Amino acid sequence: MNIFLTSCFAGGVLTLLYGMLETKLLSVKEYKINSERVPESLSGKKIALISDIHGISHGKDNSRLFERLKEIEPDYIVICGDLVNGRGAKELKFAFRFIRKIKKLRIPVLYTFGNHEEKLRKHHRKACRRLLRFARKRIILLNNRAYKTADGETVFVGLNLPLWMYHGHDTKGIIKKRTDKILSKVNAENCYKILIAHDPEHLKEYSESGYDVCLSGHLHGGIIYVPFLGGTVTPRFQIFHKRVRGIHECGNMKMVISRGVGWHDVPIRIFNRPEIVVVKFEKEGSGSVQK
Ligand SMILES: [Fe+2]
Repeated sequence: MNIFLTSCFAGGVLTLLYGMLETKLLSVKEYKINSERVPESLSGKKIALISDIHGISHGKDNSRLFERLKEIEPDYIVICGDLVNGRGAKELKFAFRFIRKIKKLRIPVLYTFGNHEEKLRKHHRKACRRLLRFARKRIILLNNRAYKTADGETVFVGLNLPLWMYHGHDTKGIIKKRTDKILSKVNAENCYKILIAHDPEHLKEYSESGYDVCLSGHLHGGIIYVPFLGGTVTPRFQIFHKRVRGIHECGNMKMVISRGVGWHDVPIRIFNRPEIVVVKFEKEGSGSVQK
């Protein structure tokens, strides 16, 4: 019995140590979207999706993350929410350094808030205003706004949701109304539409709102990923939720969910390395999704 208990304890400690190590193993995962809907001007282009950074650095000042971004040579970078934890002004130093550094890459950077920036807005209004001002001057801040590419064929819509929508409530069609209103301001009827929405849970409503692609994060890959079963836990405490990472289809829309770059509260990831996601677009007739 003693041997059994000792083995269980040792196994648990080793798993925890490995889980802590895995938080540092930044990876790159590429998905291809081949569709006849992809406009010529987007074909062959790449979006680097970084989500859920949570104030974490991979190397000093995120040197490893920036090295990877340079190697990827993306055409756009999307920061899909939760750059900070929303705990106060002390986090702004990290956010400002990150934004300054990413701006130096001279690639269009689109930043949409997640629930943790919304927490900052709710509990630390002054700090949130400073973050908004700083980001707006240096990168493309897409909080309930649209950004149409210079060729006019693709439009990005950044949707940021109020905190109550992160708790699984029925959104009562609010998302469609909100994104329709954003799109109406940019004449995007015939554009290829890419939605940036931190929370992937409203997949059906995003799809019904007419988007071709949705870029999401938020669920941290389920923290501890069990093959064939899914992520063990989500921020909403859903157990073995299957849709915590990867590429998914709903109607005519494809959703790419990032496992995230960082962590908060407990530094642990198991079979769930932090990642930069690369989404590569190809104009083709098959409409197939390749992993
Ligand atoms: Fe989040």
